[in-house]
Amino acid sequence: MESLPGRRDRLRDQGVDFRRRTGVGCTIDVTLAGRLGSEVETVLYRVTREAMTNVEKHARAGHVWVTLVGERAAVRLEIRDDGVGFDPAAAASRAGRDHYGLLGMRERVELAGGTWSLRSGPGRGATVRATFAHQVAHGLAAPHGRPGVTVGSPA
Ligand SMILES: Nc1ncnc2c1ncn2[C@@H]1O[C@H](COP(=O)(O)OP(=O)(O)OP(=O)(O)O)[C@@H](O)[C@H]1O
Ligand SMILES: [Mg+2]
Repeated sequence: MESLPGRRDRLRDQGVDFRRRTGVGCTIDVTLAGRLGSEVETVLYRVTREAMTNVEKHARAGHVWVTLVGERAAVRLEIRDDGVGFDPAAAASRAGRDHYGLLGMRERVELAGGTWSLRSGPGRGATVRATFAHQVAHGLAAPHGRPGVTVGSPA
């Protein structure tokens, strides 16, 4: 579990680091109070890191925006860039050995009980999103497809 200041600092560090390394502008916007489950927290960190690495390697972007917000029903992470963009269907068909980033991100998010999406197109930049229902994000519900934790001894 990590507090809001801890999370904010960590994301801000990722932003400062990115800017220094790449020279690409980076805006970090965190408006999410409360603690998150440690699994989701780790997933959010890794998605941010991989998405920013993709921006660095492929996007030729002028700017990237990282947003982590608590909405009414869910916690949403978004990494958006204004770079060259790409065709998601073509990227998906090449996914595998040499291109594991997007696929790995998606799998991590879905295993942790969230939903993952990608929007892009040639010349349109790219937006990666990971969304978790509050119960899941805050570690209060087992992710889909996995048994919940049983408290107490069996009868
Ligand atoms: N933000 C982006 N802007 C432009 N193109 C992108 C972006 N993100 C991904 N792509 C395109 O999608 C492809 C697949 O990305 P993915 O992260 O899955 O693999 P990779 O970055 O090529 O390799 P890996 O992540 O395994 O080191 C990339 O090779 C690139 O062509
Ligand atoms: Mg990648």
